[in-house]
Amino acid sequence: MTAITALEHSVEIKAVSKTFGAFHAVNNVSLPIRAGEFVTLLGPSGCGKTTLLNMVAGFIDPSAGAIHIGGVDVTNVPVHLRDTGMVFQSYALFPHMNVFDNVAFGLRQRKFSKSEVTRKVMQTIEMMKLSGMEGRRISQLSGGQQQRVALARAIAIQPKVLLLDEPLSALDKSLRAQMQVELIEMHRNTGLTTIFVTHDQGEALSLSDRIVVMNRGQIQQVAEPIDLYSNPANGFVASFIGEINALPAAIYQASDREISLAIGDIRMTAPRRPEWKFGSGEMVKAFVRPEHVRMATSADAGSNVVTGEVLTHIYQGSHTITRLRIDGLGPIEMRLPGGDVVGRVPVGMPAQIAFDLSQVILLADNPN
Ligand SMILES: Nc1ncnc2c1ncn2[C@@H]1O[C@H](COP(=O)(O)OP(=O)(O)O)[C@@H](O)[C@H]1O
Ligand SMILES: [Mg+2]
Repeated sequence: MTAITALEHSVEIKAVSKTFGAFHAVNNVSLPIRAGEFVTLLGPSGCGKTTLLNMVAGFIDPSAGAIHIGGVDVTNVPVHLRDTGMVFQSYALFPHMNVFDNVAFGLRQRKFSKSEVTRKVMQTIEMMKLSGMEGRRISQLSGGQQQRVALARAIAIQPKVLLLDEPLSALDKSLRAQMQVELIEMHRNTGLTTIFVTHDQGEALSLSDRIVVMNRGQIQQVAEPIDLYSNPANGFVASFIGEINALPAAIYQASDREISLAIGDIRMTAPRRPEWKFGSGEMVKAFVRPEHVRMATSADAGSNVVTGEVLTHIYQGSHTITRLRIDGLGPIEMRLPGGDVVGRVPVGMPAQIAFDLSQVILLADNPN
């Protein structure tokens, strides 16, 4: 399939809201999406992802705001004239049709000639690794194959935008991982502007050019995966993306270069990040990822070394998650390489740990 590079296939979501009665399902969301970009809407169940996607598709009318596709205001354009390809969580394939007819559906609706339909269907079927299955009925396909048919049906029409609502969530773990790779390849092959919805942060991190984190109908942060992981904008994003220890902390000294804080009994000084606006005397939350906690060595300064009691080791093959209890702080999780014997302090015994101070994230201490 030829790459679709036309610049006009960007999407712009402009101050869009959707209310059901008094309830704000989507609350004043603005999001420009570049042509060819793979953007993921990520957030917990009920945060408004499907509602927002359905407004881009045209299945739901916004209560306020506008949707532009390719620079054109489509807010009042009906679904079938928006040229979007959609894949639903439930696939929504036509069970009485075979694979070929499912993939051909949108093309026939658009009145392509018979030979054009055949050419485009066969091209898409080959790209989605469904060759030889054209005559099969949907009920004769596995879940993964059905999902490929749903994708093929959506992209066969060469839509301006591809909209994918949790398309992999019904698949088992290994198939999901395989389909993630195929989605990345499909996106590279087609160059389609893609909006992908998931509640699975791992899936979002591995697939996306940019991730839009949503909670309660609002955008929390828009960023590339690496930035989101290393620089979460608030406590919600920090806790939702990856594993993280959230520790209460008090700042007792703040200069341009460094911030000194007390986390329970622990005193530590961390290089200041430009986004930290805190002053002396403020209470904050210190976020530390498990991979940034390690066994202390003789090289660690005493003020950064903490003694905890080992609660559990959870062996996970490539790594071990060790939970420790630290007086006045509660449990802390530490991630060590799989066969690390140094970290294997027996359960119930004290262990000295240290934080990688350059990786500590400080955020305002609010209920978010
Ligand atoms: N037609 C509707 N009527 C009333 N409430 C709705 C309707 N559709 C969705 N909602 C509510 O809006 C919120 C967001 O739903 P949805 O967009 O499906 O969330 P998500 O896809 O993120 O799980 C939920 O609380 C849901 O119950
Ligand atoms: Mg949904």
